[in-house]
Amino acid sequence: MTSGRDFLAIPDFSTRELHALLALADRMRRGAYTAKPLTGKSLAMIFMKSSTRTRVSFEVGAWQLGAHPLFLTPRDVQLGRGEAVNDTARVLDRMVDGIMIRTFAHADVEEFARYAKAPVINGLTDLQHPCQILADLLTVQQHLGGIDGRTIAWIGDGNNMANSWCDAAYRLDFSLRLACPVGYDPDPEILARAVASGRVTLLRDPAEAAAGADVVTTDVWASMGQEEEQAVRAAAFRDFQVNAALMQRARRDAIFLHCLPAHRGEEVTAEVIDGAQSRVWDEAENRLHVQKAVMATLMGGEPLG
Ligand code: CP
Ligand code: NVA
Repeated sequence: MTSGRDFLAIPDFSTRELHALLALADRMRRGAYTAKPLTGKSLAMIFMKSSTRTRVSFEVGAWQLGAHPLFLTPRDVQLGRGEAVNDTARVLDRMVDGIMIRTFAHADVEEFARYAKAPVINGLTDLQHPCQILADLLTVQQHLGGIDGRTIAWIGDGNNMANSWCDAAYRLDFSLRLACPVGYDPDPEILARAVASGRVTLLRDPAEAAAGADVVTTDVWASMGQEEEQAVRAAAFRDFQVNAALMQRARRDAIFLHCLPAHRGEEVTAEVIDGAQSRVWDEAENRLHVQKAVMATLMGGEPLG
């Protein structure tokens, strides 16, 4: 069954490989990489949830590397009518050279990877959002000169983004302080592994997490699929807003990141996301560069380092 190398979570790459991948993405960002290692190949992109950035960056990125991307949604493919995940994986595998999936259950992406020989790339699950964290790391590198030794403050929900940040801190040499309300912690296994690295702390006070941080970052209070919990979550996260007062706790040259889409007035004020410390547009652009680096590596044989 499986043989291709997949990217389902940050630890699928070693520390050395992550640095090499970010260096490759940075060459792409600077326009110093013009090869088309995916010429003649196809990428299936399955979106069981909405997307702007992930869809556009994978589609444009695949095209820039020479591949043909196919945008597949539940309205179009039989997966949406209940065809088994493993049957879909085996069929796509006969026709395409890589599969990107955005879906709900992380186990579905793992099952896809088990049944497809072609590389499978996680475009977000309820558990993980590793491509976004690569973009965030590239943005930190771009604006702060490197990630090693930095302090990242995560404010809010212990969601897919928080889990992937934990994974990044497990692999790379930076400190992560998470401030999450009780009941909204990251995944216990992912958190425990990250805390054991000595670089990750779970706190309850956003001000304590942000104190002296190089990066302050957050995400929506209700993720895709949790819309009906919006009111309960809004109450639980009331004191977890990134606003000017919280940013003042961080270093003067700290940057603000948000994977987007954002809800101004909820998890972040307009003053912060539209302010001088915000790097969210570079962060969004960097999705294109990191995805290209992942596809060039996994589908195009581009060596890491
Ligand atoms: N940040 C992110 O993944 O955005 P989309 O949901 O628009 O893809
Ligand atoms: N945590 C958010 C991220 C969106 C890119 C969600 O899963 O909806």
